Amino acid sequence: MKFPHDFLFGAASASYQIEGAWNEDGKGLTNWDVFSKIPGKTFEGTNGDVAIDHYHRYKEDIQFMAEMGLESYRFSISWARILPTGEGAVNEQGLEFYNDVINECLKYGIVPFVTLYHWDLPLVLEEDGGWTNKRTAEAFAQYAEICFRAFGDRVKHWITFNETVMFCGLGYLKGAHPPGIQNDENKYFQATHYVFYAHAKAVEIYKALNHYGEIGITHVFLPAYSVDDTDENLIAARHANEYETFWYYDPILKGEYPPYVVRQLQEKGWTPSWTEEELETLKRNAGKNDFIGLNYYQPIRVAKNHEAVLSMEHSRETSTLTPGNPSFDGFYRTVKMEDKTYTRWGWEISPQGFLDGLHMLKDRYGDIKMYVTENGLGDEDPIIDGEVVDVPRIKYIEQHLQVIKRAIEEGIHLKGYYAWSVIDLLSWLNGYKKQYGFIYVDHNNNLNRKKKLSFHWYKHIIETRGEGL
Ligand code: BG6
Repeated sequence: MKFPHDFLFGAASASYQIEGAWNEDGKGLTNWDVFSKIPGKTFEGTNGDVAIDHYHRYKEDIQFMAEMGLESYRFSISWARILPTGEGAVNEQGLEFYNDVINECLKYGIVPFVTLYHWDLPLVLEEDGGWTNKRTAEAFAQYAEICFRAFGDRVKHWITFNETVMFCGLGYLKGAHPPGIQNDENKYFQATHYVFYAHAKAVEIYKALNHYGEIGITHVFLPAYSVDDTDENLIAARHANEYETFWYYDPILKGEYPPYVVRQLQEKGWTPSWTEEELETLKRNAGKNDFIGLNYYQPIRVAKNHEAVLSMEHSRETSTLTPGNPSFDGFYRTVKMEDKTYTRWGWEISPQGFLDGLHMLKDRYGDIKMYVTENGLGDEDPIIDGEVVDVPRIKYIEQHLQVIKRAIEEGIHLKGYYAWSVIDLLSWLNGYKKQYGFIYVDHNNNLNRKKKLSFHWYKHIIETRGEGL
């Protein structure tokens, strides 16, 4: 079987991780411009000031994408380029840059798939409480509308937010991302609520514009599985799915929060302050959401936790999703299992976990349209005789595309696949050491680009529509 003709083969990036030009052409400061410069926060003090200089080299990069035969490119807009202080006056040069990127994609027939928020928040808003302040949600709605109006004639696929669980969890529980706060459950749940509210408002605005196009949200997809069949571990896995998945997917797809979590938040005093109007906005717009984007890297294996949780301090060395940690509420812990395979950074490789998880989503939410908006292997690629021989990445993507094909055959409504990442880029906490791209960037030689082995492989997959997989 070939992949259906309307299935999009793509690859992805995010503004802060590629653009650089952090203070050029009227761009405002963001939370990451400041946070990345606090000593000890990122690997060897790396930051996105220059990143891979995509801001100045986007033409070259998009030409590579075209040569690879990429059908669609997922990238994000940096809010602070469009609105330097998060709200108010528009920076025309910011609009111009994204117009250029979009037009360059279209020149080659590459479908732009745009994320409005991939973690770089205008600093002015961060300093006023960031996502714990409703002002940020209202400002996001304005920003979204400006983008819909400016680019909506050519951009037909919109993602509001990338991975709420990550930027809120790392920002307010683990302190590893801005604003660097630890163990503040109230702020964490409040922030997630305002993100869902901002999403619903943006969807409502988009639908009112009557554009021909679609809008959704991207979540990390971390299906939880019990390490065995004991009751306590099965309960632990359910708990993990309620908090890591349903809390995020329910408000978008059902327009209300999962009762299991709501009840527990009430008991613990962690319920966000929410108004009737906000809850009503979630409800009213749930049915208007066109798709869900899934960023899938790995499942989590969980067991009941019997130890006290002292602090959620995050270890950068073990990376953001490495198993072996208690959950924020101490109820379960993630487990590294003997019989599983892991990447160099300790992330489990489990295509089967994805397939099973897709069925779990279908059981709960019905026949929703989905895109895989990220999936890929973070590795240190070997260079042999001048060639970047990223064979493990090819293997990883191949195995995941195989299960995606199977999932489609089994009736899962998947319409596209975006490898993370199109080109080697800045990992938030792991600098340039952890590579994901089809295109190598030489940091010792003018940021020169070079095709990896996977580049040629993916080109072939796209050309043959995955027939041989
Ligand atoms: C996803 C993010 O969570 O994971 C990306 O959306 C990120 O922005 C990717 O780069 C890989 O994460 P890491 O920590 O391996 O660089």
